[in-house]
Amino acid sequence: MAENFDVIVIGAGPGGYVCAIRAAQLGLKVAVAEKRETLGGTCLNVGCIPSKALLVSSEDFDHAKHGLQDHGISVGEVKIDIARMQARKAEVVGANTKGIEFLFKKNKITWLKGEAKFTAPGAVEVAGKGYTAKHIVIATGSGSVPLKGVEVDEKRIVTSTGALELDKVPGHLVVIGGGVIGLELGSVWRRLGAEVTVVEFLDRITPGLDGEISKTFQQVLTKQGFQFKLGHKVTSAKTEGEQVTLTIEPAKGGAAEQIKADIVLLAIGRYAYTEGLNLAAAGVETDERGRVKTDGHYATNVPGIYAIGDVIAGPMLAHKAEEEGVALAERLAGQAGHVNYGAIPSVVYTSPEVASVGATEEELKAAGVQYVVGKFPFMANGRARALGATEGFAKILSEKGTDKLLGAHIIGADAGTLIAELTTALEFGASAEDVARVCHAHPTLSEVVKEAALAADGRALHI
Ligand code: FAD
Ligand code: NAI
Repeated sequence: MAENFDVIVIGAGPGGYVCAIRAAQLGLKVAVAEKRETLGGTCLNVGCIPSKALLVSSEDFDHAKHGLQDHGISVGEVKIDIARMQARKAEVVGANTKGIEFLFKKNKITWLKGEAKFTAPGAVEVAGKGYTAKHIVIATGSGSVPLKGVEVDEKRIVTSTGALELDKVPGHLVVIGGGVIGLELGSVWRRLGAEVTVVEFLDRITPGLDGEISKTFQQVLTKQGFQFKLGHKVTSAKTEGEQVTLTIEPAKGGAAEQIKADIVLLAIGRYAYTEGLNLAAAGVETDERGRVKTDGHYATNVPGIYAIGDVIAGPMLAHKAEEEGVALAERLAGQAGHVNYGAIPSVVYTSPEVASVGATEEELKAAGVQYVVGKFPFMANGRARALGATEGFAKILSEKGTDKLLGAHIIGADAGTLIAELTTALEFGASAEDVARVCHAHPTLSEVVKEAALAADGRALHI
């Protein structure tokens, strides 16, 4: 007889493992199928965590090389041992994935090791054994979008997974796609000495971000040595020995040119991953982009089958997947879980960081919403000066007339942490005035946020 659970979650990424923990906390008998050797999904193994480990190593290297002289500190020759940097990254990843194993044991969650595939609506098979459950949650995440003519080998032509594993600094790294992955991982290798060229199809980088922020972001990265080929597409990539020759063309048509690269990073987006699941056996429907179709409560078209995270519509972010995991587990236990999609922050972990929540100016214009802009530069903040981190600004958008906060966008030091306050404000339906009236500690970078909120009413104090 097939072993029965209350909930079987397929995939142990941030969506799946968090859903499992919350369901177990609420007294349900839970199993998680995961085919990877370690828990934590894309995020912990080959995504958020290893990329942040390399980002901090490369930032420290850059700081030791260029950021200390101003302080009167001199050091000897600054060198990087890539093998040690990679070993540290592996240790960080290992500690995190082991941590999830510990949490599974603590919450009495069964790990079904192997690939799960549906055999019927309430039944799956993992490693040759059958399991049934009242509720099955698909949390199988995403994969890297391929590009015709650019064959990934994870050695010379890599996705983010290969770009996290390089054993030496490439002479010339060409990134296809000016999005989050390309700019974060491009930053890692740029700081370590690579020449970096980003080929982007559109005429701007980071298309989802507020236009003004995106423009400043590109200027900042250009100052750091990034080169951009905007409005271009790659039509082919040919590897010969140690080199790749890319053919690129203007997106709107025109003469082709060639660029030589030591490493090519393909980062043009991610797609919903449902391969091997045998969705057909359960009759689960997907949309035109291959994402599992769900209603507002994560239910698919098949009763008892749900889906969360990167495999469904919405931003492909770990914290979005986690929130969905919690909301769904609570619903399965008879509670009323809910996610506010209007208040999901997103952060690019470059230096400086870029963070945003809520509407962009472009979105407000398109929706015909009247708004007020409050802006404040890091340059005018005392702590930012003391830190030597004066690049960037915070920008708050509030509704004209009501002053209700509609969106917030920050490029600057610690933007990823600073955005949390504005996310809370947005979630609570606050006005810019509410944020401006809150006492912020001095001297902190958080005063940039307060001043931007004051600026929405034309009364910033330090500019
Ligand atoms: P995933 O984390 O993809 O997990 C799905 C799991 O399901 C995988 O482990 C897979 O092996 C397993 N699986 C698939 N099919 C089966 C099957 N049939 N049977 C058993 N197991 C199966 N997001 C952020 O918010 N912040 C960041 O800083 C960030 N950095 C990133 C950096 C990189 C380089 C990448 C690639 C992504 C990054 N992301 C980041 C995105 C983030 O990783 C994803 O949004 C998040 O992992 C999605 O979680 P998930 O649970 O939906 O799926
Ligand atoms: P992305 O969607 O962020 O960016 C892809 C870029 O490639 C876009 O600018 C797009 O216009 C461009 N593009 C598309 N086709 C192209 C082509 N043929 N030639 C040239 N350019 C092309 O995707 P990315 O960077 O691959 O990241 C995937 C996902 O992972 C994102 O949705 C993101 O949410 C998530 N992620 C999040 C991180 C974070 O939160 N800090 C870090 C890394 C990834």
